[in-house]
Amino acid sequence: MGLRLLPLPGVFQPRSDSVMLARRIPEEPLRAGATVLDLCTGSGILAVTAALAGASRVVAVDVARLAVLAARLNARLNGVRVRAVRGDLFRPVAGECFDLIVSNPPYLPGPAGELPERGAARAWEGGPHGRAFIDRICDQARSHLRPGGALLLLQSSVCDVDETLARLTGQGLEAGIVFIHRGPLGPVLSNRVEWLREQGGLDENDHEEVVIIRAARPSEEGARR
Ligand SMILES: C[S@@+](CC[C@H](N)C(=O)[O-])C[C@H]1O[C@@H](n2cnc3c(N)ncnc32)[C@H](O)[C@@H]1O
Repeated sequence: MGLRLLPLPGVFQPRSDSVMLARRIPEEPLRAGATVLDLCTGSGILAVTAALAGASRVVAVDVARLAVLAARLNARLNGVRVRAVRGDLFRPVAGECFDLIVSNPPYLPGPAGELPERGAARAWEGGPHGRAFIDRICDQARSHLRPGGALLLLQSSVCDVDETLARLTGQGLEAGIVFIHRGPLGPVLSNRVEWLREQGGLDENDHEEVVIIRAARPSEEGARR
């Protein structure tokens, strides 16, 4: 992808699903002056990709101090500007709207009742159904999208893709799947196979589908038609 990323200890290192979403970003129509928000930025891979793809202004948010530092460093390393800020999902960008929102949030379901407040697992634990962050993103994305803007959200079939599509549609967004990759479970979920089977979230081969969902806010013109 022509991107250089510094592996900072304690910061989530991009995996194949991060790269999957990064590859989709240049396909978005980033017109002159386009603004992009990267929620749960980690190393900043998606934010830096958006800046390299031509976005005029990119904001990257992460709850982890080190991730914010990594996003800043990686932006600099790639010669682009990214405003990296620390905070909880949309909180640091209250009242701001964007042309594109991208997110690869923590989405793995697990038996633990509470979300971790620190440590590596904070990057992937998504609560009992894996939806703790996805639901919040679905419910708040529309109010942070400009008319005609879109959300690109990555998740797995183990945390209910249909629920995501229904929530986004319920918010008045035009939502659909734009990319699917089917394969074996990753290392964390492989250790939870028995539990996942009990929850009924796996197919007969214990495979998952990693999907990219695109949800667009209709442009004012479209809404008037
Ligand atoms: C799966 S990693 C994705 C990192 C990067 N976007 C990528 O694709 O490689 C999820 C990231 O979400 C961050 N995170 C966890 N809880 C958060 C919250 N409440 N608000 C913002 N970021 C959060 C973690 O620190 C972690 O960097």
